[in-house]
Amino acid sequence: MLRRLHSEQPESFAFTADNQKWAEAQLTKYPEGRQASAVIPLLWRAQEQEGWVSKPALEYVADMLGMAYIRVLEVASFYFMFQMQPTGSVAHVQICGTTSCMICGAEDLVAICKEKIAEKPHTLSADGKFSWEEVECLGACTNAPMAQIGKDYYEDLTAEGFAHMLDDLAAGKKVVPGPQNGRYAAEPKSGLTSLTEYDSGKTQYNASAQLASDIGDGVKRIQGDEVPILTPWVGKDGVVAGRAAAEAPPKAPEAPKPAAKQAEEAKKAAPAKTAEAKPAVEEQAAEAEPETLKEARGGLPDDLKLLKGVGPKLEETLNTLGFFHFDQIADWTEAEVAWVDSRLKFKGRIERDGWIEQAKRLAVGDDTEFAKRAKKDGLYDDED
Ligand code: FES
Repeated sequence: MLRRLHSEQPESFAFTADNQKWAEAQLTKYPEGRQASAVIPLLWRAQEQEGWVSKPALEYVADMLGMAYIRVLEVASFYFMFQMQPTGSVAHVQICGTTSCMICGAEDLVAICKEKIAEKPHTLSADGKFSWEEVECLGACTNAPMAQIGKDYYEDLTAEGFAHMLDDLAAGKKVVPGPQNGRYAAEPKSGLTSLTEYDSGKTQYNASAQLASDIGDGVKRIQGDEVPILTPWVGKDGVVAGRAAAEAPPKAPEAPKPAAKQAEEAKKAAPAKTAEAKPAVEEQAAEAEPETLKEARGGLPDDLKLLKGVGPKLEETLNTLGFFHFDQIADWTEAEVAWVDSRLKFKGRIERDGWIEQAKRLAVGDDTEFAKRAKKDGLYDDED
């Protein structure tokens, strides 16, 4: 199956307020500049909220993490756990079709999916409530055949029981995950032969099924208010455990805004002489406004996208701030870098991507490796 962006995409994506808080809390787990490590949890939460990972969701997550859109698409399209097309509004059913499950009746389950949901996998049912696919071994072979729905496993299935389960889900009834044949967990079907004392004091269902049942999340889309956001690594003073106060907590990036709004804000930030645009007093000492231009010299701006890390949007922002030429960037001092950096959406990019070194070479007509490739393949870095 080709894993690419679906032909139909929603207009926009935004985390719910609680999921946004949760996502920002995840960012504090990582050192400053390493927020991209949160890409999988954030994509997963986007999928838990919406049922699949849409293009706007990918871009939203990329913007939060300061990553190029293509990098996030690479992650989402590589891992099959991410759904790249719309899924059923109630449930997306993943039937294990590997050896144990196949021997124990997976084909019958697939037949039920074809009959009740859609003939082809990754297709919405007529009422839009369900979709399905066959997946590789999900590691619950002892309880074959089984299916995963959301993050829960439904095990020891029979065709009849599974069909009934789908009917219950369609009717809005709750279905308890775990073994569906009365088995507690993965003990022998004939019952325990050892550790029998474990029988006393156990919960009604096994731990996973009990938790799912207790918090009632089952197949529900996750809004973020189901369980408290736990950030035990962040102290009451906001300092992240193991980090110096000065470097913590890493500030969560602002929620992404439409491009028009970003351009408008960049314009506001350009005249740094206005009171509102001035940075905080303590930051002012380290910042100095570089010399800017109203327009490109001779009306011929350099192609700033030849700098690795500068894409079309960032080039537009730089132009708005008054930078059109490589030699302008090549001359920035440390304090001037700080001034520009504080006006970019994601800080640290100038140093991380080595803009000054690149600009110095490009300003005198030398090509960098990136510029050579960009010119040859028309490949530009859209990391903004
Ligand atoms: S074969 Fe189905 S879970 Fe392993």
